Amino acid sequence: MNNIDCPAASEIVIFGALGDLSRRKLLPSLYQLELAGLLTDDTRIVGVARNDITLEQFAQQINDGLNEFIPETLDTDAVTKFLARLVYQQLDFKNITAYSELATTLASEKTPRVYYFSTPPAIYGDISEGLKSAKLIRDNDRVVMEKPIGHCLESSKVINDQVSQYFNENQIYRIDHYLGKETVLNLLVLRFANSLFTNNWDRNSIDHVQITVAESVGIEGRWGFYDEAGQMRDMVQNHLLQILSLLAMEPPADLSADSVRDEKLKVIKALKPITRQNVKEKTVRGQYADGYLNGLAVPGYSNEEGANANSGTETFVAIKAEIDNWRWAGVPFYLRTGKRMPKKHSEIVVHFKQQPHNIFSESYADLPSNKLTIRLQPDEGVELEMMNKIPGIASQMQIHENKLDLSFSKAYDNQRVVDAYERLLLEVINGNQSLFVRRDEVEAAWQWADGIIAAWQSTNEAPKPYAAGSWGPVSSISLIARDDRQWVE
Ligand code: BG6
Repeated sequence: MNNIDCPAASEIVIFGALGDLSRRKLLPSLYQLELAGLLTDDTRIVGVARNDITLEQFAQQINDGLNEFIPETLDTDAVTKFLARLVYQQLDFKNITAYSELATTLASEKTPRVYYFSTPPAIYGDISEGLKSAKLIRDNDRVVMEKPIGHCLESSKVINDQVSQYFNENQIYRIDHYLGKETVLNLLVLRFANSLFTNNWDRNSIDHVQITVAESVGIEGRWGFYDEAGQMRDMVQNHLLQILSLLAMEPPADLSADSVRDEKLKVIKALKPITRQNVKEKTVRGQYADGYLNGLAVPGYSNEEGANANSGTETFVAIKAEIDNWRWAGVPFYLRTGKRMPKKHSEIVVHFKQQPHNIFSESYADLPSNKLTIRLQPDEGVELEMMNKIPGIASQMQIHENKLDLSFSKAYDNQRVVDAYERLLLEVINGNQSLFVRRDEVEAAWQWADGIIAAWQSTNEAPKPYAAGSWGPVSSISLIARDDRQWVE
């Protein structure tokens, strides 16, 4: 999907190139693009970081990262070609005058550059200013901003204002890596390429929707960052709301960046605010306590290394979200996400309404409703639970629930599931913003999330404990049980 107004970029400049994200995701993903032949011959990858190291040391660290994170796909020739693209520039990000050194390192050709900010957001403004002062921002250059963009609506505005002094909105790519996941993208195809779902994707046919994004990992040494953020800011404000908006949006006119983003924005804006009055009824905050995962004892959040034992940060959130519009009035979207849950498991389950009348009551008293499950990860796929006749001669029809199962691994044998960052990096290189979040979406999402956080603060209640390795606090079961429903386990 190359944007015709925007030629492909051939220089990728990563700020924070020695950081965890860069080693774990960005460089391995760029290597995968190399392997797939998707990088042009003249593409250069410029790592920028504070450390005073040589290019050889930088290349060694990147090579170690490839061996650690994607050993199964390494090909000697491709690795050699890839490492030869690397360039390293030491830089103090806050020293505006030092950017002239970066200018001498960067290629002088007019082809566009991608500036990837993989640093704390607080210095996005400094980097932008430094680039500008060294005359390194041209109309076709792009900037990628990692989340979290801010800590709340106000701080996100400050960061966006700083960057937008130097870059136009059509140059800014705000990344939410969930938008690059195969299964999240498949939501568009599932909804808009199958007439089966054209007329029953609304309050008339759907009873409710559950979105679960569960992780078995804890905070993985990111105590400082995570304790400030919590699961609401780290996962709900971005990843879960992006999934929700793709699932609930009106059909966009086409796949262009603004058509899709306009529709997603309308959904986020239509979310019913959660206030101090109803926050207890509509949300649950939890924090993992000591427990067991895969038979091994794991410490609770407040016993993690470096932890503040009195932290009131949530590691689990469940929300009954409601979309106040014509299509979804009365259809709850139950969201649930947490760390240290029994396994990594993310899925959307769309529960259709029950049949109005049961003519099979003699053999099946309580006809279950159809359920469409979209497994985001792992074991990506789509599953539809339907009723079926059990073959047999008995006069009374025997029926049971069965599954139409479209597991990606079975349906697309040998097809590697592309990592979200591979796709998103390629989209930036090609200048296509569809899979990136526009400023107004980020702000609308903060507005809703901020309301919930403020309501929690006003109640001053500690998060509910749950044992590591469990599905969250008991009150998250009550949240949905109050509506006579239950979580799909
Ligand atoms: C990140 C969060 O955005 O997403 C992490 O900061 C989280 O806390 C991660 O673990 C989950 O991503 P994925 O792709 O593993 O589901």
